[in-house]
Amino acid sequence: MSNNKRKILATSALPYANGSIHLGHLVEYIQTDIWVRYQKMYPKAERECHYVCADDAHGTPIMLRAEQEGITPETLIERMHAEHRRDFEGFNVAFDNYYTTHSEENRLLAEEIYRRLKDKNLIEVRTIEQLYDPEKNMFLPDRFIRGECPRCHAQDQYGDVCEVCGSTYSPTDLIKPVSAVSGATPVKKESEHYFFKLSQYKKFLKEWIHGGHLQAEAGNKLEEWFAVGLKDWDISRDSPYFGFQIPDAPGKYFYVWLDAPIGYMASFKNLCDRKGLNFDEYWGPSSTAELHHFIGKDILSFHALFWPAMLHGAGYRTPDKIYTHGFLTINGQKMSKSRGTFINARTYLNHLNPEYLRYYFAAKLTNRVEDIDLNLDDFIARVNADLVGKYVNIASRAAGFIHRHFDGRLALTIYHNKAKEIDDLRASAKHIAKNYEGREYAKAVRQIMEDADKVNQYFDENKPWELAKKTNETERKKLHEICSTTLECFRLLTLYLKPILPDTAERAEQFLNIKPLTWTDLDHDLSGHRINEFKHLAKRVEKTQIDAMLNEAKESLNMTEETNPSTKSGPLADDPLRPEITIDDFAKVDLRIARIIKADYVEGADKLLRLTVDLGGEQRNIFAGIRNAYDPKDLEGRLTVVVANLAPRKMKFGVSEGMALAAGPGGKDLWLLSPDDGARPGMRVK
Ligand code: 2FM
Ligand code: ZN
Repeated sequence: MSNNKRKILATSALPYANGSIHLGHLVEYIQTDIWVRYQKMYPKAERECHYVCADDAHGTPIMLRAEQEGITPETLIERMHAEHRRDFEGFNVAFDNYYTTHSEENRLLAEEIYRRLKDKNLIEVRTIEQLYDPEKNMFLPDRFIRGECPRCHAQDQYGDVCEVCGSTYSPTDLIKPVSAVSGATPVKKESEHYFFKLSQYKKFLKEWIHGGHLQAEAGNKLEEWFAVGLKDWDISRDSPYFGFQIPDAPGKYFYVWLDAPIGYMASFKNLCDRKGLNFDEYWGPSSTAELHHFIGKDILSFHALFWPAMLHGAGYRTPDKIYTHGFLTINGQKMSKSRGTFINARTYLNHLNPEYLRYYFAAKLTNRVEDIDLNLDDFIARVNADLVGKYVNIASRAAGFIHRHFDGRLALTIYHNKAKEIDDLRASAKHIAKNYEGREYAKAVRQIMEDADKVNQYFDENKPWELAKKTNETERKKLHEICSTTLECFRLLTLYLKPILPDTAERAEQFLNIKPLTWTDLDHDLSGHRINEFKHLAKRVEKTQIDAMLNEAKESLNMTEETNPSTKSGPLADDPLRPEITIDDFAKVDLRIARIIKADYVEGADKLLRLTVDLGGEQRNIFAGIRNAYDPKDLEGRLTVVVANLAPRKMKFGVSEGMALAAGPGGKDLWLLSPDDGARPGMRVK
């Protein structure tokens, strides 16, 4: 057996250390944790599985956030590390090691990999030109530059992509760029950068992405990189930066994405040192261990191009599998702070049982790169119908009879080969295991619930409540056997659900009075076994709990966090263009009701309308970027809200003497904020 022993290392992507864990993140951690728990239910002699992760602690956003909070990056990442650990624990995500990329192990490994690449002449220094903040004295990452889109001229767009028209460009193409860090106008400045010669691995990577390591759709997606020509990869950043210094390159740091995946190795190295495991067995060039990375679709290129090339170049093994999942939507839409559906892990845990979310995600997860939807009504219905109504119900129904009539002891003859239900249930094991292994959890769950239906049916058809009224021996024996068989079925269902519901399974084991279930327990049964008192295993979800969670999510929006540009978590205060303001700052804004008395197109401006508004006796001229959303003739006579004390701004087309407030992502989807009936021009808005 030992020759065939599978040695497995599984990872989930490392969350950034500047934001809280939210439900979007949890899709991946729950997906990986289920897979790992499934593996760990095999005997150690057959299968050994380790699950590592860490905080991704480096980079400019973390440096700037710490600065904003007036603390060192080290203090910030320590605090976030503790918070992340607690949240993962709360969802029963059981890493073997949860480390940090800001560790000595990671520094040494990053330096070693870099040196090996350099020795092979795979590193090249080139001078490049970038935007530089002359006030902050730092080069600006794309996301910290805002300006006008060179294509559609939408205002206030990021340095790399326009959120209005979707075009991508280089930050130096932005019109009227502004540093989001200081508000200064950036200047172009040259500096030396270190490049990893990825282009030399074109052939290797082309084969690799179709070599059975990725889902087919992921491999196809990566073809886009080759279509435009695989470029060398810039792996350095200039000081100031929070990260590791590049050896023999003063003032240069490794780009966070260089040392982040090395963080998988470093976390495992730390585990090896603590547990006496052999690091090389898993990472050495001739490793026969399996390496499985679970990731989201937004970081595929880092894992399936840069990472294998780096590993290969530095003489390490490459991953066996990269499993890419889609994003989470809530009620069919992107998680959104304004809709109140941006739900942090902690907010969920304050109201609901983590096992419910694990179950719901499992019921939806497939092995494809698809987004999954958390529909909150469906969530309630499914958890209540399946977990409470089908699974837990089986135990609570049968346990009563066993305790009342048989002193808590099960029959010696469990129907076993006579009851088709049990035979069928045992036969499902193969199918379920295959679907866990292949990350087809939705299929596994479907099978388990079909089995649970059959068990409930078996119980109902045999009407134990009627048998319990009879006193003759045959009927009592039948009652005993039926309830015992039902509980044996419950044991098997618990075994099958255990990777998804570790906590519920543990309490079920306690009730059944058995040792922790593993796959070898398929061969045993509960005949003659004494069970413990039944304590309820799962409560129904109530709509009020969901509402309370959503309310808390909404409230915490005002107090703490806002999503960052990449739809990952990140605090509102992180957006340097919109730093937190005090109530006193807010009180300075004079919001007034205005009546639009005239609206015109502006020649030469394809976004703007010129509004003449009446502020209760005073007329103002305001340019508003709402041309795509409104026809001027529909606006005349309407009331709207304007910022009345905004300093006049000289624009190409005239002076704008205020700002009309509108909501929405832009383009056609913009709505003027219309005051209710009864509002009069000039009224103050509070
Ligand atoms: O996208 C992210 O959230 C990154 N922090 C993931 C890093 S995964 C690995 F490469 F470290
Ligand atoms: Zn644009």
